[in-house]
Amino acid sequence: NESEIVVKPVAARIGAEISGVNLSGNLDANTVKSIRDALLKHKVIFFKNQNHLDDKEQEAFARLLGNPVVHPTVPVKNGSNYILELNSDHGGRANSWHTDVTFEAAYPKFSILRGVVIPEVGGDTVWANTATAYENLPAELRSLADQLWALHSNDYDYAAKRSEISSESVNHYNNVFTSTLYETEHPVVHVHPETFERHLLLGHFVKKFIGLSSSDSYQLFSVLQEHVTQLENTVRWRWSTGDVVIWDNRATQHYAVNDYGDAQRVVRRITIDGDVPVSLDE
Ligand code: SIN
Repeated sequence: NESEIVVKPVAARIGAEISGVNLSGNLDANTVKSIRDALLKHKVIFFKNQNHLDDKEQEAFARLLGNPVVHPTVPVKNGSNYILELNSDHGGRANSWHTDVTFEAAYPKFSILRGVVIPEVGGDTVWANTATAYENLPAELRSLADQLWALHSNDYDYAAKRSEISSESVNHYNNVFTSTLYETEHPVVHVHPETFERHLLLGHFVKKFIGLSSSDSYQLFSVLQEHVTQLENTVRWRWSTGDVVIWDNRATQHYAVNDYGDAQRVVRRITIDGDVPVSLDE
């Protein structure tokens, strides 16, 4: 019932917790609209106590937000149609700042992540608001960013900065991830197709800026990326099993903190198809 939904911000610039709703494929249109509105406004929304959701029901709920799409290189979890499982035991530790799948021309608009096995300590995820990051740039940097385009690739290198976890399974995961190479160019500043806010579009899949050398790209990337990831521009979520988090992938970057050692962490993600980003000139 729509009237029971409560949306409570958890940080000043990004993130809200939603209570009073059991996620499922049977939600009425008004409830789905309230969830969608909160998602566009707060950019990442958190739902606790959704332990009733299984893979099928996560997929059914995802369909209420758009068309689910599979990852271009990582196979779906056995027995599911759309679920990407990130299992820390098999190298699924997304511990560098990124927006999901930006190496595709039309990358996902939303991601829906469910906590399945959560370590007793650690394993939080942090999200950053890419609109406030842009807004708060000094004018000189903003106009520089306005003119830039970036090459995004799943064969990322300098931007990766992953911590070293040397095991065969991690190598295997990385080999699967880059089994087919993708490259695409995106504007560094894009206009959100629903909120019309301007956003910085960066993250670890950026290989270089068009027209700049790798070394100049690296330095400029670091300057801009630091504005995205400064703590004041982020929200951090301490997971419990059964939590569901949805983010607007056109408006955020995220980082899964790899601070839980050998403990296991398993999360399952479904992404919803998005559009080719719109630049300021379009
Ligand atoms: C992801 O990068 O999509 C997963 C984030 C997480 O594991 O918390």
